Amino acid sequence: MKGIVFTGFLEMVEEKYGYEVVDQIIDEGNLPSGGAYTSVGTYSHAEMVQLLTGLSQKTNKDVPSLLKAFALYFFDTLEKNYPQFLERANGAFDFLESIENYIHVEVRKLYPDAELPTFETKMVADNSLEMIYTSERAMADFAEGLMERAIAYYGEKVTIARKKLREDGKRVQFIVTKV
Ligand code: HEM
Repeated sequence: MKGIVFTGFLEMVEEKYGYEVVDQIIDEGNLPSGGAYTSVGTYSHAEMVQLLTGLSQKTNKDVPSLLKAFALYFFDTLEKNYPQFLERANGAFDFLESIENYIHVEVRKLYPDAELPTFETKMVADNSLEMIYTSERAMADFAEGLMERAIAYYGEKVTIARKKLREDGKRVQFIVTKV
């Protein structure tokens, strides 16, 4: 997993819970990297799981809600660093459909070792887009937060229905419906 995700995560933890909590989850996490992340480095996804678990223990919040909150926060970083991806799309559905075939493709050119999910997208009604998330990392909560913030960026109102297609969360269906 790319360093930008780790630096963004620790930035959020510091902002919301303070520097001491950052220190504690790094110290108690026994992380192979020692918690020294650079945005262009690459680190094991297991370290993110460790940090999330540590934060969950400190805050008494469950990992899925923390991961979603992180996505809502992290979207601002993506918007700041990659505004061109948001500007070129004509609305939320166009943007969401472009993640698989354009955005993450460009991301992979920049970072050949990026660990990205796959999205299968399909219009299932005039106002409904189906997005099927697949990833070994089972980060659908992260996907949901990013989707919500992206849709808000375009000022659109939608509902998001979600269904696990695999019990382990590695394949999840989202139905995004404009209201
Ligand atoms: C400007 C737009 C975007 C950019 C530049 C971007 C870039 C990235 C980067 C750099 C990573 C980390 C890869 C790694 O750790 O190796 C990532 C992961 C991820 N992205 Fe995107 N992304 C964008 C939008 C989105 C949106 C809107 C979604 C939601 C549908 C999304 C879903 C995900 C998920 C779920 C992951 C975590 C990895 C996984 O689940 O396997 N991305 N993305």
